[in-house]
Amino acid sequence: MTTKTEGAKEAKGFATTAIHEGYHPLDQDHGALNPPLHLTSTYAFPTAEEGGRRFSGEAEGYIYGRVGNPTVALLETRMAALEGAEAALATASGMGAITTTFWSLVTPGDEVVTDLTLYGCTFAYLTEGLGRFGVSVRHVDMTNLETVEEALGPKTRVVYFETPANPNMRLIDIAAVSALVRAKAPDAQVVVDNTYCTPYLQLPLALGADIVVHSATKYLGGHGDLLAGIIAGPADLLQTFRFFGLKDMTGAVISPFDAFLVLRGLKTLELRMERHQATARRLARLLEGHPAVDRVHYPDLDSAPQRALARRQMPKGCGGMVAFELNGGYASGVAFMDALELVTRAVSLGDAETLVQHPASMTHVTYPPEEREAHGISDGLVRLSAGLETPEDLEADILRALERSGTPGGH
Ligand SMILES: Cc1ncc(COP(=O)(O)O)c(C=O)c1O
Repeated sequence: MTTKTEGAKEAKGFATTAIHEGYHPLDQDHGALNPPLHLTSTYAFPTAEEGGRRFSGEAEGYIYGRVGNPTVALLETRMAALEGAEAALATASGMGAITTTFWSLVTPGDEVVTDLTLYGCTFAYLTEGLGRFGVSVRHVDMTNLETVEEALGPKTRVVYFETPANPNMRLIDIAAVSALVRAKAPDAQVVVDNTYCTPYLQLPLALGADIVVHSATKYLGGHGDLLAGIIAGPADLLQTFRFFGLKDMTGAVISPFDAFLVLRGLKTLELRMERHQATARRLARLLEGHPAVDRVHYPDLDSAPQRALARRQMPKGCGGMVAFELNGGYASGVAFMDALELVTRAVSLGDAETLVQHPASMTHVTYPPEEREAHGISDGLVRLSAGLETPEDLEADILRALERSGTPGGH
């Protein structure tokens, strides 16, 4: 009987890796098709001496749930393979992945360089969180390489960005920024939040970044039923993240059950991403031609200013997120949201259900309008996560809501 572990290791396609990497049913006692869910917080040592050997690192083996679990380990193996990384670390949430990364890397006096547009809680963590501990954060327009170059210096420890950025779909050139950081700030780590694309559409490490972080709550899990995060990068660095950042600084450990659900989600990731992005492209085109809509932000549109970069960096497509700006500003945004019947008003993204949010009245309601504008979030901006429903039903709901919203040009 040949099992996978005995067979030759050869590179496999994305979906094969997402379904099989790291587990073969015939390597298990019972031949279970699905990997077992290990619900345990601690592990028995055969002898005290063996326990000591594990603690000192002389012997391999599990010690305690905060530093490892076999179900979580399988998720980490699979995500490392998908991102093309030496290693991966799973965490309790995307914010757990981000904060574990920063708390492992920075010390007082260090500088962080980041973009103007970021997911709101990442923005708050960097400005209000890290700032309190003597780490200074510089927000610059990272679509402009000269500005990035000016911001880099000997104290730069982390260069952090999302691409496409949440919520306005700005793209940042991963290869160009990474090359610049290597030349100007060689001690800095380039960290990319790959939540919007997943490794199916974009591989930041292959483009020169050092570390990838994810909110696995989104597309990787894919069903809106869990919170999880992933960090992928060099093995030695991730060992520090596991035994210091995660174990001691954040404790943001993923539940084995959530790891099991993310593993289940990964099996259909390729299929789901194709459907999410086909629908997103369709909705972007519909909205672009609509008189109630000022601008559509979807990098795959012929009119998109960053289309060439999108093609280079995301060769399989631009994913399932679309942002658009309604003519009537704030009032239109609120009215449009309230007129939707099928599309669900909710934050988060990457679920089977199409979700929509209006940053000015929801996630960014506490920011003064000038500050929102400075970070690329206009009053009429709506963010939509294309779900897996029948696209015609979504189109009908969106057109009806535009008509009922009283947006100039809506009907
Ligand atoms: C781009 C991005 N990064 C990180 C996060 C944080 O992830 P989580 O909610 O899993 O902590 C989010 C959440 O919306 C996000 O959109």
